[in-house]
This record gives sequence, C-alpha cells and structure tokens, in this order.
Amino acid sequence: MALAGGGVSALPRKVAVVGAGDIGSGWAALCAGAGWPVTVFDSDAKVVERALHEVPRRARGLVALERAPQGIVERGLLEFHQGRSLLQTVQDADWIIEAISEDLPAKQRLVESIELVAGPEALLTSSSSGLFPDDVFARSRRQDRCLVAHPLNPPELIPLVELVPGTRTAPAALQRALDYLRSLGRMPIVLKKPLPGYVVGRIAAAVWRECIDLVLAGVIDVGDLDRAVSLGPALGWAAAGPHLTYHLGAGAGGVPLFLQRLLTTFEAWWSNLATWQKLEPEQQRGLIQTIEKAYGGKVEMLRAARDRRLSAILRALEQSRTT
Ligand SMILES: NC(=O)c1ccc[n+]([C@@H]2O[C@H](COP(=O)([O-])OP(=O)(O)OC[C@H]3O[C@@H](n4cnc5c(N)ncnc54)[C@H](O)[C@@H]3O)[C@@H](O)[C@H]2O)c1
Repeated sequence: MALAGGGVSALPRKVAVVGAGDIGSGWAALCAGAGWPVTVFDSDAKVVERALHEVPRRARGLVALERAPQGIVERGLLEFHQGRSLLQTVQDADWIIEAISEDLPAKQRLVESIELVAGPEALLTSSSSGLFPDDVFARSRRQDRCLVAHPLNPPELIPLVELVPGTRTAPAALQRALDYLRSLGRMPIVLKKPLPGYVVGRIAAAVWRECIDLVLAGVIDVGDLDRAVSLGPALGWAAAGPHLTYHLGAGAGGVPLFLQRLLTTFEAWWSNLATWQKLEPEQQRGLIQTIEKAYGGKVEMLRAARDRRLSAILRALEQSRTT
C-alpha cells in the first residue's frame, strides 16, 4: 500500500490501542476504517465488550458518511481484535496508541508496563488532552520513540491531530507519527513547545469560558449561543483561521489596517471578558440545567446529526481544496 501523504515510514502491520473508551474506540475505528489491523485492550472487561460493537459501528459509520470505502473498512474489521492482555495487545504492534483516562500517574504506570512488552521499534503515542509529554513518558527509558498525538473528538472524523514531542523525542519518531497520521488522512500540526492544554484545548477553553459566562449571565440562551459560534466565527474559521480572517478583514490594507481600525475596540472587549477560573457548584448546576433543557434526552440523535454535518463540511472543504 502506498503512503497517501508521501511519507517514508512503512505502514504499521498492527496498531495496538490501549484504553477502549470514547477516544480509543475512535482511533480503532479510524485505523480499522483504513484497512489497518487493530487490537484494542482495556482494563475494564465491560468496556472491551462495548468496544467490540462500538468500533465496527463507528468504522461502518464512516462508509455511511462517505468517509471510507466499504471494502477497505470490512477488510480492516476482519483484522480487528480484542487483546486478552496488555502483553498480547502490544508485543507485536508497530504503533501503540495510549488512550486511557487523563490520569498522569496511571498513564506513567501504563507507559512503564508497555515498555516491558513492546517491540524495540514500536512507536508509542499518548492521546492526552493536555499533559506534558515529558511527564507522561517520565518512567520510560525509551522516550526517543514516544510523543503525544492528541486527537479531537470524534477522532475518526476530525482530521486535526496535535503532535507534541517531548524533549527526548527523536525526530524519526515524530516523522513516523506524521507519516502514519497523513496515511490515515489526518492533518497533524506540531507544537514547538508544550503548554497545559496544548493549543487546541487552550483555544477551546478560552472560548467556552466566555460562552458559559454569556449563558449564565442571561445574555443569550444555549441554542442561540451555540448557533452564534457554529454559524458565526466557527463557520468563518472552518474556511480561514482567526489570523487570516482578520488579515482579510480590512480589504487590501490587510492586518495593519485592521489593527489600526479595530485594535482599540478589541482591547476594550478584552478588558471586559470573563476571567474566572472556577465554575462554582451552583453555576455548574445552572449550566447543566440549561444545556439539558436545550438538548436533553436526545444524545444519540444529536451526535448522529452532528457527525452528518461534520462529514458534509469536510467534503466541502476537500472539494474546495482541489478546485
Ligand atoms: N473525550 C474527549 O473529548 C477527548 C478528546 C481528545 C483526547 N482525549 C484524551 O483521550 C484519553 C481518553 O479519553 P476518553 O474520553 O476516551 O476516556 P474514557 O474514560 O472514555 O476511556 C478511558 C478508558 O481507559 C481505560 N483504562 C484506564 N486505565 C487503564 C489501564 N491502565 N489500562 C487499560 N485501560 C485503562 C478505562 O477503563 C476507560 O475505558 C484521555 O487522555 C483524554 O484526555 C479525550
């Protein structure tokens, strides 16, 4: 099989996914959906049981959403297996994806255990949403082949993956992760230095805090707030990120003119934005109530509709790139 992204790494003969929750199942669906052999393992037998249905459902969902060809998905699913132990799951894997809960000591212990049984050439990536790679891999003696590959949810649909190398990650391991991800049709970005929450989490947290604040302050209801983001800035950002958006925001004058015209306005807003760092229990209750009132009881239906919209947006973006 040729590498779609023009990379140099051979494709993995086996992918091991450790942690079969939402993200692990998404990674497994993505890899199986590309026809790659995948074995999943979870310390909770019930979760593995669920993943045995969930992964094929999500991989076949990619066919329904026109994100993967049926023949390739079915070929991948023929080689989709449950690992009976950590040893059996990772020992002959070329790529080991850690996707357990966001619990630093647990990840450190798992990395240490994986290292005892993984092959010497295996690549190990962590799905952490924001932990420092040097912390996650602190108990590894082979940090050269370790890095964070942070996906967005659902990983089988959203192409962006944040790669966060640690101080000891070898350039070859980073390149291999880039090659694997591009072969899966992902769009990896590489952070030059780690920060809590990396880049995506920080942006999401900043925007969400303001969104929560606007709802709790009674400025707008949840449905309209969500529309204000997804049909407002997020729609524009899907076509051009914030810097390009503002560079285009003052005609031929570009960003210098934009700043000249609007910087003081933005500065006035910045000084007025929410800055709290804790959501008190009463505010949490208020937020849950208002979100459940807007969307409650229909999670599966809403998720399926969201996935249909996501794949339609991706298709449109892909088509506009080739024309
Ligand atoms: N949920 C998201 O939106 C999202 C997005 C991107 C990244 N992440 C990150 O991905 C990782 C997984 O998140 P999730 O939402 O899938 O969590 P989850 O709670 O749904 O799944 C985690 C799974 O790990 C299993 N587990 C825990 N310790 C284990 C061990 N030692 N060995 C094997 N299995 C073990 C648990 O039984 C559980 O099934 C986290 O690091 C999270 O921060 C989450």
